[in-house]
Amino acid sequence: MKILAIETSCDETAIAIVEIKNLPAQTGDGKLVKFKILGNEISSQIDIHKEYGGVYPALAKREHIKNLPLVLEKVLREAKIKEDKLKTEIAGIAVTTGPGLEPALWTGIVFAKELSAKYKIPVIPVNHMEGHIFSIFPKKGKTFSIKNDKELFPILTLLVSGGHTELVLVKNWLKYKKIGQTRDDAVGEAFDKVARMMGLPYPGGPEIGKLAEVERQIIAKGPSFGISSRTVLKEVSDSLPSIILPRPMMYSKDYDFSFSGLKTAVLYLIRDLRAKYSEEELSALGGPASGWKQMIAREFEDAAFEVLSYKTMKALKEYKIKTLIVGGGVSAAPQLKKVIENDLKKNKLKVKAYFPGRGNTGDNALMIAVAGYYQYKNKKSLKNSQLIKADGNLSL
Ligand code: KG4
Ligand code: ZN
Repeated sequence: MKILAIETSCDETAIAIVEIKNLPAQTGDGKLVKFKILGNEISSQIDIHKEYGGVYPALAKREHIKNLPLVLEKVLREAKIKEDKLKTEIAGIAVTTGPGLEPALWTGIVFAKELSAKYKIPVIPVNHMEGHIFSIFPKKGKTFSIKNDKELFPILTLLVSGGHTELVLVKNWLKYKKIGQTRDDAVGEAFDKVARMMGLPYPGGPEIGKLAEVERQIIAKGPSFGISSRTVLKEVSDSLPSIILPRPMMYSKDYDFSFSGLKTAVLYLIRDLRAKYSEEELSALGGPASGWKQMIAREFEDAAFEVLSYKTMKALKEYKIKTLIVGGGVSAAPQLKKVIENDLKKNKLKVKAYFPGRGNTGDNALMIAVAGYYQYKNKKSLKNSQLIKADGNLSL
């Protein structure tokens, strides 16, 4: 069977067509589900939203409406399927119904409903966060498989994106229990806002990550190199306040997070630095690379990831977890992977940790196709296609 999947929850217009085959069990308890990617396209709007320093919903909606037919055409060509053959070729149309920006979500849903009515194909509503959980399975090539393996469970997922920061228990596929979430800003949102304060482009996560890494290299080379690279203006670097940021809610008893205080701490730090030094003096710190930004980026990234990892370790122990899945845009950060893998070792936890492959960390339709297949098999979610609605706050 083949599934066509549509994702428009934020600033990527994505469509994929995936062929799925069930194979008899070769070993162990489970069947092997084989996936073949027939077509997979993402049209990103990042360059359009960059000007606004974040995603502008009305613009996102306009771009999705414009892009959806073009992306579909491209995917059909890639999959070698003629549009008039969709009725016989496609078993279900999976579409993200939330969470996300409602005007953006609606564009994908309306498009799915139109195809559904025209070609008599049922629509499968998919939760975007469920998609991020399944995003760890696609590999580099065109095929991948998922073994129905009881040994994987219970799974803990750490979902970190521009809109969400959640710890979710997965007792079995499609059986979710949220055990913690952010009380204010999502971690990716905090990265984007801090980047904006430092004059870095949107999306801020990768920009901060790059600066933080430069700083780590300086620190690794030892104090003499580190200091000398920054003593362009000696009196400035000598009187520089130490850059230490809070680790909000790290030791709270629950599994919730908070990133708004961390973001505000950076705001005050930058305000104090700017009050004390001229722009010229500041940029002289560390030469052309603006050492002060590097220092803040490194401390900010460490603070955010230490909290995420600490709470993840606590939950892994409490719930006797066998597998950890990290998903969402922020899972692209190499430093997050490093911190989590280090903490697993330090805590002597024999938990297998999975991160999405390159290209699958951000929003894509492939993950919606995989989650959609499991929903389709479950049948329960197949309502009257025309009744499906967008829900910006949809929860797992
Ligand atoms: O999952 P995603 O593509 O979209 C949402 O559903 O929100 O996540 C986007 C978020 C943005 O906030 C972006 O800054 C962040 O993921 N991000 C990163 C990195 N790459 C993307 N954050 C930290 N480090 C990165 N390397
Ligand atoms: Zn996402």
